[in-house]
Amino acid sequence: MSVIFLDNAATTPLEPRVKDEMIRMMENFGNPSSTHLSGRSAKVEVEIVRKRIAKAIGALPSEIFFTSGGTEADNMALFCSVRDLGVKRIITTPIEHHAVGHPVEFMAERGEIDASYLSVNEHGDIDLGELENLLKEGPKTLVSLMFANNEIGNFNPVKEIGDLCKQYGALFHSDTVQAMGHLPINVVDTQYDFLTCSAHKIHGPKGVGFAYVRSGLKIKPLIQGGAQERSMRAGTENTIGICALGKAFELALDEMAEDQKKVEGLKQYIIKEVQSIVPGVKFFGRSGELDKSLYTVLSIAFPKSNNEMLTFALDIKGVNVSGGSACNSGSSQGSHVIRALGSWTADYQPVRVSMSKFNTKACADGFLNAVREIYTAQAVG
Ligand SMILES: Cc1ncc(COP(=O)(O)O)c(C=O)c1O
Repeated sequence: MSVIFLDNAATTPLEPRVKDEMIRMMENFGNPSSTHLSGRSAKVEVEIVRKRIAKAIGALPSEIFFTSGGTEADNMALFCSVRDLGVKRIITTPIEHHAVGHPVEFMAERGEIDASYLSVNEHGDIDLGELENLLKEGPKTLVSLMFANNEIGNFNPVKEIGDLCKQYGALFHSDTVQAMGHLPINVVDTQYDFLTCSAHKIHGPKGVGFAYVRSGLKIKPLIQGGAQERSMRAGTENTIGICALGKAFELALDEMAEDQKKVEGLKQYIIKEVQSIVPGVKFFGRSGELDKSLYTVLSIAFPKSNNEMLTFALDIKGVNVSGGSACNSGSSQGSHVIRALGSWTADYQPVRVSMSKFNTKACADGFLNAVREIYTAQAVG
């Protein structure tokens, strides 16, 4: 059975052009720390990618640090700002990814920081007034608010958040793992101090990403060892992964407009059709509003009915979607993001459909037909 893959917020298929780049780099096996020709040749490749990424987001090459992915980059921003920059409070929300939520909880439980959680309304929106009131007083603060939510697609007003942080002397970390490569991001226009990226969300391989750290923020390495990454991240560089990330990033930027148009069209189509198939369907967060959410993510709220195992039923029909985020699968409590939207969510079951440029109208129709079949069988049964 061929699979319809609509879980691209969990991970994306590898781009053939990225795969070619990985195969090319497999030949260049040098250790970038070696000073001989083989080492220098690998180092040159890594530095080309660093420059390319830096230029694309308006940063300096020295502000880009390659990591093992989004989780490590988020951990680096959070743990290092507490350990090295005197941060005593982190302001965040209950709907961040666990790569942010769990480090914050960990440090709060150890008494290293105060964790302040901004409230979110039933749509997942934050209130900038609440953020400003918190920032007006209190200790040295890091604000950690993601650009686009991985489960409900909501955008945070990152420009305004960056301005408020600047005004009140707070640091600003944004988990941009779902937005990077899908939307323009620029560290000059928006006053970020830390950003994060993961290659496997943009058709690159798993296990590689980067952190942007604004120059002047004197943090020490989270991972200790050798002097790689200008002594900021020890461990021999994942040269194949880094070059793949560079290629995936380049393609994502070059082809952003056409990919967006295509994926947005599919999202619009599913929004319209699913409502006619299942009466009473809603959308979690802002995901049903094209201008207020990431075009790749649609979080459908199906009224709870006899079939409580919708994602499982879809899987049996060859359609891969998720109930929340991939990191929540296996959790009996369901999604922390959906729960945070309020008690009304208990009457609905979430199905997150997340799309990529490799999806077609046939994929959308495959999903919609499977939903139709499941609901028809239910009505008959
Ligand atoms: C918003 C967000 N942050 C962080 C991560 C973690 O990234 P990685 O899988 O590269 O560790 C993910 C992955 O699901 C994500 O969606």
